[in-house]
Amino acid sequence: MKSNGRIWFPAGVLVSLGLGWFGFPAMLYRAEPQPVAFSHKAHTGQKGGMKCEDCHALREDGSFSGIPGIEKCAGCHASAIGSTAAEKRLVDEYVSQNREIPWLVYARQPENVWFSHAAHIKLGKLTCEQCHGEHGKTDTLRPYEEDRISGYSRDVRGNPGGKKMKTCEDCHGRCGVGQQGCLDCHK
Ligand code: HEC
Ligand code: HEC
Ligand code: HEC
Ligand code: HEC
Ligand code: HEC
Repeated sequence: MKSNGRIWFPAGVLVSLGLGWFGFPAMLYRAEPQPVAFSHKAHTGQKGGMKCEDCHALREDGSFSGIPGIEKCAGCHASAIGSTAAEKRLVDEYVSQNREIPWLVYARQPENVWFSHAAHIKLGKLTCEQCHGEHGKTDTLRPYEEDRISGYSRDVRGNPGGKKMKTCEDCHGRCGVGQQGCLDCHK
């Protein structure tokens, strides 16, 4: 019995550690699929030939257009161009009913954070990839992961193992952006 205890106790510790290490992150995030299987590659690749600005642009007043509305999609998808299930869904459930697609924004910041694309794209001359990686070239959409405790996107806090966006302050340090007060980034 005694020698068994010597094996089972460490084994138990290992199992608990394993559950904490691998199980906790899995339990912490609730994965939600995007409403439509959008392919950036189909649009921005050689075949589609579209530019990022065709769908995501800075408006005259400096605000960022964000994700385009259904009207933009309808310009080409009033009826199906190809024969994929994703496009059929787009036409049947959204375009023909003039319904907006409820996209989930991976980079969405908490309510109290203020972020300006113009400051970064125009003044800072940064590329989309510096903050969003290769998203504009992807063929499939990973699920959106919501932190069950804070309600934030997994990309915001950048937890270990998460596909984090580099934190604001890291890059400001590297780029020599001057020291900022709380109210530069918070409302
Ligand atoms: C045909 C229109 C279209 C074009 C062209 C396009 N996008 Fe998008 N983009 C979308 C749609 C629709 C979404 C929402 C689905 C998704 O997350 O991919 C999106 C989402 C994104 C997001 C996700 C933001 C987030 O945090 O959730 C990024 C980043 C992005 N696009 C970057 C780009 C880049 C970079 C390019 C150029 C290489 C580009 N897009 C070209 C339509 C477009
Ligand atoms: C300038 C024209 C144009 C616009 C605007 C456009 N698309 Fe497309 N889309 C295409 C073309 C071309 C294809 C490729 C068709 C094919 O060969 O299957 C495509 C394919 C698709 C597919 C099928 C991809 C696949 O591989 O399953 C989806 C879904 C889609 N588009 C969604 C959207 C959404 C959502 C928007 C609006 C944000 C949008 N498109 C705007 C031209 C456009
Ligand atoms: C300095 C980092 C940074 C750069 C550079 C950047 N983005 Fe973003 N992007 C963000 C952040 C942060 C958010 C979330 C903003 C929020 O929640 O208010 C975001 C959100 C978005 C969204 C979702 C918009 C929405 O509010 O619905 C799209 C689409 C997007 N970015 C595309 C782009 C494209 C295209 C480029 C290049 C032209 C680009 N971004 C450059 C950091 C960046
Ligand atoms: C990849 C680098 C990078 C990342 C990531 C980044 N920034 Fe910046 N940011 C810059 C640069 C460069 C500037 C300076 C732009 C200029 O020349 O005025 C800047 C400027 C700013 C400014 C000052 C804008 C003005 O004109 O007063 C604010 C506020 C800001 N960033 C907030 C944020 C927030 C919030 C985040 C994270 C959600 C973030 N930034 C992420 C590089 C970055
Ligand atoms: C360069 C931009 C930037 C500056 C400067 C900044 N913050 Fe933040 N802060 C953020 C971003 C982005 C988040 C959201 C991501 C996160 O929670 O890590 C955040 C999150 C927070 C949160 C958690 C909010 C929540 O809803 O959970 C608090 C509290 C906070 N900041 C306080 C401060 C205070 C106090 C200062 C000044 C000493 C400050 N911040 C300066 C960008 C900034």
